[in-house]
Amino acid sequence: MTYTPQLRELMKKVEETRPSRVGVHFPRMSQEERQDVLQKFHPDYIEDGFRELKVGVNKGSRLPNEMADVFESYSPLRDVELDLTADPDYDVDVLIIGGGGAGASAALDAHAAGAKVMIATKLRFGDANTMMAQGGIQAADKENDSPAIHYLDVMGGGRLENVPELARALVMDAPLVIKWLEDMGTMFDKKEDGTMITNHGGGTSRKRMHAARDYTGAEIMRTLRDEVYNQGINVVEFAAAVEVLLDENGRAAGAVLYNLETEEYLIARAKTVIIATGGSGRLHYRGFPTSNHYGATADGLIMGYRAGAKTIYADSIQYHPTGGAYPPQLLGLLVTEKTRGLGATPLNIKGEQFVYHLETRDVESSAIIRECEERGMGVPLPTGITAVWLDSPILELTHGEGTIERQLPAMLRQFQRFGVDIRKEPMLIYPTLHYQNGGLLIDGNGHSAVENLYVAGEAAGGIHGTNRLMGNSLLDIIVFGRRAGRDAAAKSKDMPGPEKLTLEHVKAYHRELEEAGAAGSRVGPILLPHYTHR
Ligand code: FUM
Repeated sequence: MTYTPQLRELMKKVEETRPSRVGVHFPRMSQEERQDVLQKFHPDYIEDGFRELKVGVNKGSRLPNEMADVFESYSPLRDVELDLTADPDYDVDVLIIGGGGAGASAALDAHAAGAKVMIATKLRFGDANTMMAQGGIQAADKENDSPAIHYLDVMGGGRLENVPELARALVMDAPLVIKWLEDMGTMFDKKEDGTMITNHGGGTSRKRMHAARDYTGAEIMRTLRDEVYNQGINVVEFAAAVEVLLDENGRAAGAVLYNLETEEYLIARAKTVIIATGGSGRLHYRGFPTSNHYGATADGLIMGYRAGAKTIYADSIQYHPTGGAYPPQLLGLLVTEKTRGLGATPLNIKGEQFVYHLETRDVESSAIIRECEERGMGVPLPTGITAVWLDSPILELTHGEGTIERQLPAMLRQFQRFGVDIRKEPMLIYPTLHYQNGGLLIDGNGHSAVENLYVAGEAAGGIHGTNRLMGNSLLDIIVFGRRAGRDAAAKSKDMPGPEKLTLEHVKAYHRELEEAGAAGSRVGPILLPHYTHR
């Protein structure tokens, strides 16, 4: 569906103001202004979206209602008889749950350290948010930059709430990650002389965003997946983990897998377990559309939590400022921050810029919500919602003709499919649910509060405080995937396999739910959003 005549009429304002905006710098907000817009407009501050969790190790903590629903649920194994004394279906040193970038990175390093590794993944290997990441991966590997400067940006973006040890690990490993990926064949954008092209993202003080056009995640996942296959690592697809198994001493000892095709339960015994199941965007907090993959349903969070892993900042959700708003087929889909990184600016119905285009995501999103909700300056769409413009054609003026085709080919095609040419027509955008800033608390090696249980990727929390910067997620999945893989392999080396497998912790969790009157009839993990169920 192309833009309607009414939208074309409104678009003229953007065209009128464009020449006067070229090369003009819009002022950044003061710290007080940022705090004010966050508190008034960011969904994390709207109290009726949250409630106190009634069960488990973080009982009493604040969670979004939709996440609390998943936490306060019965296990799918509640009425299932499993013989945990029989020979397991799989028996490995390191069991990795999840087939995205964190799982693949963990597998590669655990395998390289000599461990017997298996990846169990809910869908196909690579069907994950990593594949959908667009704009880039941060690393301070240029002369005007350093991990220390990167660290300050990470902490500033995270509102200084990051666990310092984790932020430090993230930035220190970053240059090594870029080299590791390049050595395996990731094709980052380069200048003719072979140096990496790097750009800004929101909240970065240096240009350190390395990209493969605007399909960076797909390129990285391609590399990792090929390498996992090249190394002969066992990957079991369509095998969703539904519960972590513990041994008699409360240590992680494997997982119960559910074969989505045969609908059978399978037992995977393991000396160590790495949860790399990704985030929870498909819980659609506050009814927001999402940029996330269908599998992002908080599975690892609830499994790990039932097993005793602690959460941190589970109430901190990231809304990406630029989700597609129109045409309706693009609702919630990511419009990469690289678009703003290159200089595209958000504009209101009058074609006026109302916020600096590279504020951190929490602030930028809040300012867009304010422009539409409080100031009434959003663009009304035929679908009944309001949005703001993102002036992409300005990029062809500031960087030269062909910039969008070269730098944003995926965006160009994404909009072209529905009759919008972003080289000539601005995009219509509104914040979309993008990321879970918190998760299960880990240490510098990805280890959780449960012995032998690791967490990597979006399921882990603490690294980004309460607001992640662009390009630090593709980075963290690899940094902490690799760290977890290495540590789990080392730990597994001198350890005998678990003797006894139990699900007593799940029964205890059920009892706690019932005692707290929080049980209801919900079952979790939900594995897929309800609207995908046949
Ligand atoms: O906008 C983007 O390309 C998203 C990147 C990220 O979340 O890191």
